[in-house]
Amino acid sequence: MKDLQANIIHNKEIATNIFELKLQFQELPQIVAGQFTNIKIPELFLRRPISICDYDLNEKTIILIYKVIGEGTKCLSALEKGSTLDLLMPLGNGFQISKLEEKKPKNILIAGGGVGIPPLYILAKTLIRAGYKPNIVLGYATKAEVFYLNQFEALNLNFKVTTDDGSFAEKGFVTDSIKKYFPKTDYLFTCGPKPMLKALSQLKIPDGQYSFEERMGCGFGGCMGCSIKTNTDKGYKRVCLEGPIFMQEEIVW
Ligand SMILES: Cc1cc2nc3c(=O)[nH]c(=O)nc-3n(C[C@H](O)[C@H](O)[C@H](O)COP(=O)(O)OP(=O)(O)OC[C@H]3O[C@@H](n4cnc5c(N)ncnc54)[C@H](O)[C@@H]3O)c2cc1C
Ligand code: FES
Repeated sequence: MKDLQANIIHNKEIATNIFELKLQFQELPQIVAGQFTNIKIPELFLRRPISICDYDLNEKTIILIYKVIGEGTKCLSALEKGSTLDLLMPLGNGFQISKLEEKKPKNILIAGGGVGIPPLYILAKTLIRAGYKPNIVLGYATKAEVFYLNQFEALNLNFKVTTDDGSFAEKGFVTDSIKKYFPKTDYLFTCGPKPMLKALSQLKIPDGQYSFEERMGCGFGGCMGCSIKTNTDKGYKRVCLEGPIFMQEEIVW
């Protein structure tokens, strides 16, 4: 993990209250899909965690996608091209692609909801590079908040989109689409709000990796504010330090 300075290449609204932030670094460390950054927002004490959506080691750039929900993300959205940001990164464990070699699943699925979708984009690209062809289900609250469809479409994977209110694509939740279109799924990679993760865990998919976006306090393991219950010897594990990704078999819902 490093404390890095980056220049804002662009910071633009790509759906209602959803921003794409492209940053350029002097040096970009190796990144694993599913890792995140902790951003210092000018004037605020606590950093804000945002997942890495994409990166380019040659260009030394990363892409973050964030939703404006409070003070920190509002301040972030006001920053303009040319400003500098301070980021701790890369943080977290990242998705473990190597698990697929052990488990040899036949039908891999990536399922994401809302701002849980960004880290799944780089995950999909990484899986493709490793020779896998995952199916994808993306769930959004409503049409105005839909983002990155063209980018996912360009990956040439089998993918379905849902909106909670039916204002775009299929009405329903990602779980509905999985039951309908991908019932043979035997390995799941997911990221999104906790109720969605819990609903996915009840689908009886044999195996998977779940990325949590719990509200954080300190962001470096000191406050336990982000912990989730596991059945390991440790009991509670911290999303900021031992996560954000946990194996299906260790999570206690
Ligand atoms: C590992 C990780 C990765 C993340 N990746 C992304 C991402 O790629 N894109 C993105 O948009 N967001 C992501 N988040 C969530 C993001 O960190 C929060 O939305 C952000 O910190 C909110 O800051 P704020 O100052 O705008 O809101 P605040 O003023 O801090 O909070 C506003 C309201 O939102 C609630 N809130 C704050 N954080 C969360 C949260 N994590 N979950 C649910 N409710 C929350 C607060 O309780 C409050 O009611 C991620 C979180 C984690 C832990
Ligand atoms: S945010 Fe403090 S321990 Fe994770």
